Amino acid sequence: MNESSLKKALTKINLGGLRYFDSTGSTNDEALAWAAGGAKDFSLVVADEQTQGRGRLNRTWFTPKGTAIAMSLILRPTPPMRTHLSRTVGLAALSIADACLTFGLPAQIKWPNDILLDGKKAAGILVETVWSGDEADSLVIGMGINVEKTSVPPEELLKFPATSLEQLLETAPKREEIILQVLNGILRWREQIDTEGFIRLWEERLAFRGEQVQVHAEDAKPIKGILDGLEADGSLRLQDAHGSPIMVRFGDISLRPAA
Ligand code: BTN
Repeated sequence: MNESSLKKALTKINLGGLRYFDSTGSTNDEALAWAAGGAKDFSLVVADEQTQGRGRLNRTWFTPKGTAIAMSLILRPTPPMRTHLSRTVGLAALSIADACLTFGLPAQIKWPNDILLDGKKAAGILVETVWSGDEADSLVIGMGINVEKTSVPPEELLKFPATSLEQLLETAPKREEIILQVLNGILRWREQIDTEGFIRLWEERLAFRGEQVQVHAEDAKPIKGILDGLEADGSLRLQDAHGSPIMVRFGDISLRPAA
């Protein structure tokens, strides 16, 4: 992938703008600065390599040159999006999962922000917001997708098993093609973000549904329960041993199958 092959693949998408980097620190940092400087809706930052890629919970995100997708999409929230800001991670998750399916790979969503292929992490999402007072001025949806085998970090650095599209297909799809599919998904799902169907389909794609899981929050005892589904705001609903619901809000948490 290079700037011109990417532009060519995305000709049918009405981008607000495109910034392509052979190498940068973090596409989310580039996008946050661009958004604060007035980027248009649906502007996209893509990098062939990240040297300071960021994940959730202050983790490092690896993007070795030429092997993965590191991109950040800037959205100016529409009124329905504004009402459902907490669904933004679902918007990205559903779009990446749909994109995987177009390459024949059924994906699951490990709530809140991981995409699993064959039960292993193949992509992660980091949503950040540019605020103007208490209004969301723009949203930056950072997406990292492991495409080639060599994009998967060494096992000793992993908190959860990881894989790549190449590991599951004969050959890795072109990164431009995957980006195109993800962006098409975002355009489609964005129109439905305020619907009940959005939540139901997000819920259907969840990994570990009906299974015992543990949710680890920083500085708190792990919460255990059966993963039941999603609330209207995208919070996770577990069922405790007595069948009572426990809601898990977004935050510094990580989800695991119970040992
Ligand atoms: C996670 O799984 O913790 C989220 C990972 C998000 C990584 C992407 S790669 C593109 C964008 N730029 C970053 O620095 N992070 C996100």
